[in-house]
Amino acid sequence: MAKKTIADINVKGKRVFMRVDFNVPLDDKGNITNDRRIEMALPSIKKALAGGARLILASHLGRPEGDRDDKYSLAPAAKRLGELLDQEVKLAPDCIGPEVKAMVNALKNGEVLVLENLRFHKGETKNMPEFASQLAELADIYVNDAFGTAHREHASMFGVPSILGPGKRVCGFLIEKELKYLGDALSDPQKPFVAVLGGKKVSDKINVIDNLFGKVDRILIGGGMAFTFFKAQGYEVGDSICEEDKLEMASNLLTTAKSKDCEIVLPVDNVIAQEIKEHAKNRVDTGNIEAGWQGLDIGPETCKLFADKLSDAKTIVWNGPMGVFEKEPFDAGTKAVAEAIARATDNGAVSIIGGGDSAAAVETLGLEDRMSHISTGGGASLEFLEGKKFTCLEILDDKE
Ligand code: 3PG
Repeated sequence: MAKKTIADINVKGKRVFMRVDFNVPLDDKGNITNDRRIEMALPSIKKALAGGARLILASHLGRPEGDRDDKYSLAPAAKRLGELLDQEVKLAPDCIGPEVKAMVNALKNGEVLVLENLRFHKGETKNMPEFASQLAELADIYVNDAFGTAHREHASMFGVPSILGPGKRVCGFLIEKELKYLGDALSDPQKPFVAVLGGKKVSDKINVIDNLFGKVDRILIGGGMAFTFFKAQGYEVGDSICEEDKLEMASNLLTTAKSKDCEIVLPVDNVIAQEIKEHAKNRVDTGNIEAGWQGLDIGPETCKLFADKLSDAKTIVWNGPMGVFEKEPFDAGTKAVAEAIARATDNGAVSIIGGGDSAAAVETLGLEDRMSHISTGGGASLEFLEGKKFTCLEILDDKE
């Protein structure tokens, strides 16, 4: 069921409490190194301000675990938002308490206040009723636009909309967009539907693979997780990442795939090296990997094979890099896959890039504009692909 959005309600003069995910990466000096999550929240923020809302933005940053720690302050995010909006953005000294309440009550229509990090209080992650009700006291209307946090049943995500009740809780445009792309891909994909999965561990992706069976036509598997599949098939993997306790599971997945009419495509060659470091001595290997060597990227033949398997795709979901893409030359496989997905998208495929590493790779390559959708959710997009229900989104008002 589609959810009501901020476009469906009148916000004029109302205190609009908008949960955003401003959990942006910061360098040692506290500078934001990637402001995409702030940019992606702008359409909802601008809509609220243009509608005359008194806007209160709430977010977490990092995992301060319930204590105040200034290195996790939302000050850099508030500053960046002010630059992007070209208007004053105030920062509250906390997210609850009398001083914050006074600042909220002093807001005029069209003004915006960023609350300090929600996770400076234990009540946030534990969804403590007392904390949630103090947040709810700041709000006439609740808007959730924090897709990156959609898998967390925290006070600002679930407690506040529960307290406010129906008729006052809607989603923002970012959540609407994420649900459209990820939701449509899983419920009504154009075929062929190809999933590309990478990253270190099979155990991180097992539920995704299970949930994709019956929906996808092909799953291309790269990254460290491929080596558990190799070993399950009887190959030596040398010092490559391998989850010994998941060998049986990997073998079962390969059998189940056949019964579900899903083609699992594993690498046919790997770039191997003796150490994980930039420009480490390496070679391409096609069979057993000897002790002392480890697979750090898919090989050139696999790049061609994966590109071919993506060329006719009409729906693509990609989550996880194909190798140690932060270190050259082990970034080549991830690059090749990103480029193949961009080409398929140029030819009409809908491509959805899971957040985290794959999104970072696409951005580094400057291919963002050639992908249909890059999710702002790392853990959230993965859990969505696992078919998990997000109670904090379900609780929002349905469209009539
Ligand atoms: C993320 O970065 O994935 C989200 O902001 C959620 O953060 P968390 O994993 O600390 O809850």
